[in-house]
Parts: sequence; structure tokens; C-alpha cells
Amino acid sequence: MFLWLRKGGRVMEHSALKGGWLGLAVWILGIVAGVGHAAPLPMTIDKVYVRNCQACHAKDGTGNPRMLKTLKVEPSALNIVDADTLKKTDTALGRVISDGFEKKMPMYAKKLTEGQIKDLVAYIRTLAATTPAAR
Ligand code: HEC
Repeated sequence: MFLWLRKGGRVMEHSALKGGWLGLAVWILGIVAGVGHAAPLPMTIDKVYVRNCQACHAKDGTGNPRMLKTLKVEPSALNIVDADTLKKTDTALGRVISDGFEKKMPMYAKKLTEGQIKDLVAYIRTLAATTPAAR
């Protein structure tokens, strides 16, 4: 025991403690970074929107101007953060996402789950609340 200490046991102990503190600091940093990362809504729905909806409705929900000619729709049609859209019920908006719109918006009933469609409606309302251009 005594021999072990004299053979550098103390040094080993010391560095282990240092490693411990460093490990703890990294761990805490990880938690802080994790919390900072948490968006108002889970990342997943964010990604679902970007992947499926952004091309037509734009990242902020105001609509992609370049799609207007292709789809032959009014500028307000692709805006899903305007008053006209927001006054509709969650059920009605969910139905558009599930069933699509004529041949202009694809239907998502088979591509997304009911839960994802519900979350998308909530996401649209969040976008509307955070988009300065929302009217
Ligand atoms: C190919 C283009 C396109 C894509 C992709 C698309 N949409 Fe649409 N969306 C449209 C068009 C066109 C309309 C109909 C506008 C109208 O009423 O004339 C529409 C309408 C809507 C409406 C109804 C708006 C209202 O005022 O009633 C919602 C909500 C909506 N889209 C959400 C979504 C979501 C969520 C996604 C992704 C899962 C998505 N859209 C993907 C083109 C698209």
C-alpha cells in the first residue's frame, strides 16, 4: 500500500481526478448544448416540413414565388401563414395536407403519419407566429 503510493500512486490519483473534472465539464456542456438545441417544436417536424413543403410554401411559410407560375396559382395561395389560412381549423388544414389540393399540392396521407400531419399544422401556426411577413 505504502509502496504503491510511493511508486507514483499519488500522481496517478491526481491525474484521474483531473480527468474526472474534465469529464464532468464536458458532460455539463453536453447538457447545456442539448437544451440550447431544443427548438419550440421537435427537430423532426422541422425536417419533415423542409423536406416536403418548403419547395412550394418556402421556409417561412410565405410561399415560394418561383412556384407560382409552375402551379398557376395566386401568390396568396402558397402563403400558409396568412390570415386566410390561419382562420381555418386544425382539422381543415390537416385535411388539405392529407388529401392535397387538386393536382397542385400532393397528398400526404400515405407519406406521413397522422401524428406528423397534426404536428405540421401546429408547426404552420408556429411559423405564422414567428414570421414577420405573416399577415
Ligand atoms: C407542389 C407544391 C406544394 C407542396 C410540395 C406542398 N403544397 Fe401545400 N399547397 C399547395 C397548393 C397549390 C395549395 C392550394 C392553394 C390554393 O388554395 O389554391 C396548397 C395548400 C396548402 C394548405 C392550405 C392553405 C389554405 O389556406 O387553405 C396547407 C395548410 C398546406 N398547403 C400545407 C402544406 C404542407 C404542410 C406541405 C408539406 C407536407 C405542403 N403543403 C406541400 C402546394 C404545395
